[in-house]
Amino acid sequence: MRVLGIESSCDETAVAVYDGTRGLLSHRLYSQIAMHQAYGGVVPELASRDHVRRLLPLVREALADAHSDRDSIDGIAYTAGPGLIGALLVGAGFATALGLAWRKPALGIHHLEGHLLAPLLEPKPPAFPFLALLVSGGHTQLVDVAALGSYRIVGETLDDAAGEAFDKTAKLLGLAYPGGAALAKLAEDGRSGQFVFPRPMLDRPGLDFSFSGLKTAALVALRGRDLLGTDRADIARGFEDAVVETLAEKCRRALVQTGHRRLVIAGGVGANRRLRERLAAVGLSVGADVYFPRTEFCTDNGAMIALAGCLRLAAGMRSGLGMSARANWELGSIGA
Ligand code: KG4
Ligand code: ZN
Repeated sequence: MRVLGIESSCDETAVAVYDGTRGLLSHRLYSQIAMHQAYGGVVPELASRDHVRRLLPLVREALADAHSDRDSIDGIAYTAGPGLIGALLVGAGFATALGLAWRKPALGIHHLEGHLLAPLLEPKPPAFPFLALLVSGGHTQLVDVAALGSYRIVGETLDDAAGEAFDKTAKLLGLAYPGGAALAKLAEDGRSGQFVFPRPMLDRPGLDFSFSGLKTAALVALRGRDLLGTDRADIARGFEDAVVETLAEKCRRALVQTGHRRLVIAGGVGANRRLRERLAAVGLSVGADVYFPRTEFCTDNGAMIALAGCLRLAAGMRSGLGMSARANWELGSIGA
């Protein structure tokens, strides 16, 4: 089974070819970040138009890299949601039309299912079942994954996502959008403990998160500080420590509560080095194996969508057939 995967839910156009026997054959990505940076965030209409421009050349390149053509492709997987509706419609329309022309099934994939299956692209993939921490720009969720398509949300953010908190705090620190990676880089020069931020919701039981207070704490910490001195890096470090510590402690609790022996990390914030180190330590402390995608597959990519499509098609799951694009879509509701 060989699947062409298409991701266009936000500001990356990405295409990949995944083969059920041989693994990932190719992946291509065009990031629109430079285009949106002038506006301090993603401009949906510009994103949609750019997906239209980029998609066909990327598909041609990914197919050529994979030495594949319409005859060797068994299906087309595309991100059907959640995301920016215009951007999703570009990918959904393209994939559905290609499926009709090629007489191959086109399958709508949940973007977060793609993220949480991304560690399966690695040489030592996790087996089902597992606990997944999904930390992206739009979502922060702890998911009890029983099997492919069986996802139960056991904890989630009540306000901002972890990536959103990184991006908003980065903006306060004068870093360009999306500032998560830049903030982490700045924090490398900062000292732990110079600024201590709250650890939201750690004082209560339960597995939910809340990150909106952290950017306010950063704003307060920044008042009257010399932004050219070491304070900036110390604040970045204090903020990162707070987010990492909160995510790590909730993962530890969730592993204990669910009894899972495998923890999967996925989504853009999963690229954060300190978070990866801290979660590896949590795994050791509770006897769980921890799985991360390589950093380029933490952020949005086509490989995770091609993989999810391949697993679904191979398992005979065709319920996503027919064009679909949904801005809002609960992961817990998708089923097999
Ligand atoms: O999964 P993703 O590419 O897009 C969504 O589906 O949202 O995640 C993007 C998010 C952004 O908020 C970005 O700032 C954050 O991931 N991010 C990071 C790092 N790299 C990307 N946050 C913290 N540390 C990083 N190294
Ligand atoms: Zn994403």
